[in-house]
Amino acid sequence: METKPRDERPYAPEKGTAVRRITASAIARRKNRSTFPVVTAYDATFAEIAERAGIDVILVGDSVGNVVLGHDETTPVTLDDMVHHAAAVCRGTQRAHIMVDLPFGSYQVSDEDAVRSSIRLVKEGGACSVKIEGGERAADRIHAIVGAGIPVVGHIGVTPQTAGLGPGYKLRTNRDRLLADAKAVEAAGAYAVVLEVVEREIAREITEQISIPTIGIGAGPHCDSQVLVLYDVLGVYPNAPSFVKRYADIGSIATDALRSFGDDVREKRFPE
Ligand code: KIV
Repeated sequence: METKPRDERPYAPEKGTAVRRITASAIARRKNRSTFPVVTAYDATFAEIAERAGIDVILVGDSVGNVVLGHDETTPVTLDDMVHHAAAVCRGTQRAHIMVDLPFGSYQVSDEDAVRSSIRLVKEGGACSVKIEGGERAADRIHAIVGAGIPVVGHIGVTPQTAGLGPGYKLRTNRDRLLADAKAVEAAGAYAVVLEVVEREIAREITEQISIPTIGIGAGPHCDSQVLVLYDVLGVYPNAPSFVKRYADIGSIATDALRSFGDDVREKRFPE
């Protein structure tokens, strides 16, 4: 019988058989290297397209609520929604790191809730890491989830889950607040932090002062990474924020294609 070399771990996969996903620590090591892109995805087909395009970090954002599920806000999105969409994104990809949002209501009540919800996202949704909104106020939750062995991304600045309840979506400019939030997230054990709609010089300062990658959205060019919502990038969603760069107009292409299909059916040109 063939024996394994003594230093090989008994559970090591056969060489060449396992396709490994990008890990949270590999993403953390990108700090101060070249800026990396992140895009959201919500289904297997678009996730596969993103991976094929060379984007190896995919966020299953609770923006699914706005761009796919027809809500005005992310607040109504449920944990079941996130599990469902995360699992689809995982099925469509092989190597990409799949980061999944903890939705509103799945972590606010207790550390136990936060850990339990994160475990569902990992076990049922296939998440490689989870993202949670809030700076200092989320620090205990981040610490608890990391303590359960699940990598966490923080999210400060505009936090859409509660923006509609008061603070709104305007540019965040409170330097001391933002720095304190970023440092609290880092100290709690997060491996990266999203800065949403943060004044660009403050985003630069945060990026310089913390040791984990900053992932900017509407936060200027100085972050370690940039994330955009897929449907905004592709021009599918009509209400994209002003900081978005639209790289295609898929919405118009789809409308034209469906108009042609409709006309062909009505005029009996299809099927031939
Ligand atoms: O839900 C989402 O898509 C997000 C990004 C805007 C960062 O959280």
